[in-house]
Amino acid sequence: MPEGTLSRHFTRRMLPLSVSAALLMAATPPAIYRVVAWDKLGAQAGVYASHVGENLRHIIEREPLLWRYNSGKIVRAAIFRPGQRDVAEVRITDCAGAGLFSTEGLGVTTGQKGGPSAWAPVAVHGRTAAWVQVRMDHGYEIGVLAAIAAVSSILGLALGLALFFYPVTVVRGQARVVGDTLRRIEAAEADIRAANRDLCERVAAATAEVRRLSERVVSIQEDERGRIARDIHDGIGQALAAVQIELGLAAAHPEEAAPHAARAADICEETIRDLRRVVHDLRPVDLGASTLDEALRAVTERFERGTGIETSFSASAKTNVPEKTATCILRVMQEALSNVRRHAAAHEVAVSLDVEGSLVRMKIEDDGRGFDTSAKAEGAGIRGIRERCAFLGGEALIESTAGGGTRVSVRLPIAEDG
Ligand SMILES: Nc1ncnc2c1ncn2[C@@H]1O[C@H](COP(=O)(O)OP(=O)(O)OP(=O)(O)O)[C@@H](O)[C@H]1O
Ligand SMILES: [Mg+2]
Repeated sequence: MPEGTLSRHFTRRMLPLSVSAALLMAATPPAIYRVVAWDKLGAQAGVYASHVGENLRHIIEREPLLWRYNSGKIVRAAIFRPGQRDVAEVRITDCAGAGLFSTEGLGVTTGQKGGPSAWAPVAVHGRTAAWVQVRMDHGYEIGVLAAIAAVSSILGLALGLALFFYPVTVVRGQARVVGDTLRRIEAAEADIRAANRDLCERVAAATAEVRRLSERVVSIQEDERGRIARDIHDGIGQALAAVQIELGLAAAHPEEAAPHAARAADICEETIRDLRRVVHDLRPVDLGASTLDEALRAVTERFERGTGIETSFSASAKTNVPEKTATCILRVMQEALSNVRRHAAAHEVAVSLDVEGSLVRMKIEDDGRGFDTSAKAEGAGIRGIRERCAFLGGEALIESTAGGGTRVSVRLPIAEDG
């Protein structure tokens, strides 16, 4: 966990810093007090020593030989009150350093020994006759030092704890925030990776679909050629064969030529109509100045005239749609009407066109024999209808039951060309 690492790292860094600050806080005030107070005591000891030395000098001048034996008493009587607190010890030595007098053990002073001391020379007639040493009582200062040390230690401990725990707590909180942010970033990255994967899969699927549609375009072209060949062979070819037979019969029996010639003429007329239809269906769609509903109405009227099947047309509104959409609608209609003509044996056909928002819908319904859509494999015609619609982002639905007529419904988005 990054926040755990960050906290541990910071804690390790803060620990020596806090301990150092605590120690500094605990040690500095006592140390300063120790220096200042002991310095002051030393200076006081110097003043006392000079004072005693001055008294001693008078005694030496008065009693140049006996002062050695009386000095203690005289000094004691002269300068010390019993129980004087701040002097711990007074010592007097001769000029050679031999001890002559010491308050130690006399009970004239009280207090702690071991405090700071000072020496003062006793000069008589320009010669050092003796030395006086005064050592100060530092019991009071020791007490104050202990109190300052105790208070400083408590303050140092408090400072150390505050210096350690406050930043560590703040950093831990911030580390948690950083950890949360990192987790959110990781989650967002995972989302982006998933979206990217999804996008790649969709691109791959779309590429495969485009490839499949390209192959279908080629195969639809082949199907179209087959259909044209079939139309010419089954329709025009057979009609010409029939004309040939009729003309042959007319030639063989000139006395009965008239009915044969009349039948040949009928067949020719029908064939010319078929030929026109085939050629018309093959021509690219050209709406010219007419709207889609007008073009569809014209097709249905021609279909009715050509087949004798009663055909109705209804449109919700006059509309213009992009050329690709119009071409698709017209081709679907041609195929559906061609199927009615060829397979349905219908009496009536109803064609309707609806434009609803950005969608155009067309329905072609016949009352013919129908077929079982689940049983019968789709031919190139119905497959073509579906593929044309799918190519433009729409869809086609073929509903039929044996004996129950057939309904072809298509739905296309009205998209701009290109
Ligand atoms: N309106 C309809 N009434 C009855 N049967 C139909 C109708 N439309 C299609 N069918 C049936 O569905 C089959 C498939 O039609 P589809 O248009 O795909 O192929 P096709 O018309 O046989 O051949 P193609 O259209 O390729 O010349 C037809 O053979 C026919 O049996
Ligand atoms: Mg067909």
